[in-house]
Amino acid sequence: MARGLRQALSAKISAENLKGIYDSYDVIGDIAIVRLTEKTVNYSLEIAEAIMKIHKNVKTVLAQSGAVHGEFRLRRLKYVAGIEKTVTFHREYGCVFQVDIEKCYFSPRLHYERMRIARQVKDGEIVVNMFAGVGCFSIVIGKHSGVEKIYSIDVNPVAVQYMQSNVSMNGLFGKVISIRGDSKEVIETRLKHVADRVLMPLPEKALDYLPYALLSLKERGGWIHYYDFVHCGKDESPVAKVERKVAERLRDIGARFHFSSGRVVRSTGPNWYQVVLDVAIKPNLKV
Ligand SMILES: C[S@@+](CC[C@H](N)C(=O)[O-])C[C@H]1O[C@@H](n2cnc3c(N)ncnc32)[C@H](O)[C@@H]1O
Repeated sequence: MARGLRQALSAKISAENLKGIYDSYDVIGDIAIVRLTEKTVNYSLEIAEAIMKIHKNVKTVLAQSGAVHGEFRLRRLKYVAGIEKTVTFHREYGCVFQVDIEKCYFSPRLHYERMRIARQVKDGEIVVNMFAGVGCFSIVIGKHSGVEKIYSIDVNPVAVQYMQSNVSMNGLFGKVISIRGDSKEVIETRLKHVADRVLMPLPEKALDYLPYALLSLKERGGWIHYYDFVHCGKDESPVAKVERKVAERLRDIGARFHFSSGRVVRSTGPNWYQVVLDVAIKPNLKV
């Protein structure tokens, strides 16, 4: 992707300045999101035109500054070129998601992870998605597994509105249940001991909310998919480092468990990684 962008720009921007242009950008539906620096902001229109040439379907280019922020994990976006809008339809594995990328979290980079989880879900399972956003994990699972129900919780009211319409658009009404609220409270009041599997796709809160994931699992146990960010030196294993942290927490809570598998989902910065652990929880938990 990056070579294509730099190549497309090479006639317009000097080799020296080309080096400063970020390697990658996200394409969500027909919107591209680029990252600009103090230097490359001067070439924002050229960059946008090049992207629209490479991706004929891209109609809007926005620039993101900084990392996702706040409780709702939102991007700070600025209009660069094309049609001025932030709402789009994104397609993935036969599913369609409508999303306002300024008001809801969405990452196209997690597509493999969503399908990886869907493939593990067995017929008749009940799933709780504690941080569901506009419903992408839940909808991919709903479409590609024999799941019975997926309770999908999010605290962002706009994300929940999009989730509801995405559930209808994908024909999953009655299977994916959208719930607005703090997953801690929702589980305590409505979803104790109902789930075979719990998803925790919010690294910033996963460790804190682990007791509630356990509370949501059936008493016979089940699976937790735990996501985290970790900083690692050259000789450290990101997965092993997260396993140590989670094992300590689970032992404190009194859970019996084993780590079935773990993987680096993506690199998120120099020496920073997003990691997922698939944790098997054994019966007879005390929370
Ligand atoms: C990193 S996003 C993941 C969204 C979705 N799973 C996805 O992959 O697109 C985390 C989501 O958790 C939501 N969130 C934050 N705190 C929450 C809480 N206490 N309870 C429920 N949802 C929460 C945010 O609004 C955001 O949509």
